[in-house]
Amino acid sequence: MVNRFLSIACFFLLLSCHTNKKVQGGSAVNSGKGLKDYYAAYFPVGVAVSPYALRSADADLIRQQFNSLTPENAMKMGPIHPQEERYFWRDADSIMAWADRNGVRVRGHNLCWHNQVPNWLFTYNGNTVSKEMLLHRLKDHISTVVGRYKGKIYAWDVVNEAISDKPDEYLRPSPWYQICGEEYIEKAFQYAHEADPQALLFYNDYNEISPVKRDKIYRLVKSLKDKGVPIHGVGLQAHWAVNEPSRGQLDSTLRRFADLGLKVQITELDISVYPKEHTARARRAEDADTSFTPQKEEQQLEVYKMAFELFRKYRKTVSGVTFWNISDRSSWLDNFPVRGRKDYPLLFDRNGKPKRAYWEVVKF
Ligand code: GLA
Repeated sequence: MVNRFLSIACFFLLLSCHTNKKVQGGSAVNSGKGLKDYYAAYFPVGVAVSPYALRSADADLIRQQFNSLTPENAMKMGPIHPQEERYFWRDADSIMAWADRNGVRVRGHNLCWHNQVPNWLFTYNGNTVSKEMLLHRLKDHISTVVGRYKGKIYAWDVVNEAISDKPDEYLRPSPWYQICGEEYIEKAFQYAHEADPQALLFYNDYNEISPVKRDKIYRLVKSLKDKGVPIHGVGLQAHWAVNEPSRGQLDSTLRRFADLGLKVQITELDISVYPKEHTARARRAEDADTSFTPQKEEQQLEVYKMAFELFRKYRKTVSGVTFWNISDRSSWLDNFPVRGRKDYPLLFDRNGKPKRAYWEVVKF
């Protein structure tokens, strides 16, 4: 009897040693804790996904690390509304179903943008569509999409990238602007609010750390707020790099938007290991070395560390941080600004294992 007890006790002792060893020597995936747990008292931590990612081996990593999803492409106007009379719901619905099964919140992205638009949108009978008809189409689109996910999507990027990158130009001369003037922006927010009065509505843009662009974003968002347009926050895309933003730039950006009294969300975070370039270009000889060197790793880690220190500092304002893609296996930056130049912009490596930058982000 005693012998039997001893051998059972030994068995459990060995088992627990084995499990502990696995935890200590293993990755974050084995430790059971994810980014969402480290940041539970701060903000949800999200990731942009395709429906395929949720069916792949990445699903476990996503489940363990993140508590918010953004559909990377599935809810953009082109993919979800390919013909005027036809919506394509399959991909968006499958992301929603996964989020529901896994108790994860969803940020909708996006309702009104100049890119990834369907062919039919800006024309009617071969001519440019009228302002009235375009606003009618916008309303139909927003009511249908927001209405379908009413109560399930907690926040929407309503208007994406309406501001010009040119220093002396305020709004981007997109077809939306050329056909409707500035009004399309507030209309988009009104339509979204009517379709789901509970949803948090964001204006979302990039290059937010440039003082010139930041002022324009501030001006737009403040003018909408002052007019009583239902806008609840500003999304800072945060497509950054090893050489920007500086701590000072990011601090002043977050402080500026904090003063506005709206929510701020970091909506598309990634940190390229190459110095920032804003426009696409051809591959050059100096792009040949695409390895993830210790130097690149070190530089990137410093920017990630600094960024999360500031997100924590502005925790009253920053109400969400979302990464744009899951791991270094695949990122849009592998093809932008240089096609085919491998980048390593995320916290997980090509095998889905946490990088050194990950441990810096969760160490506080
Ligand atoms: C912008 C858009 C995103 C995505 C990225 C690049 O930031 O808002 O939807 O297309 O560009 O992938």
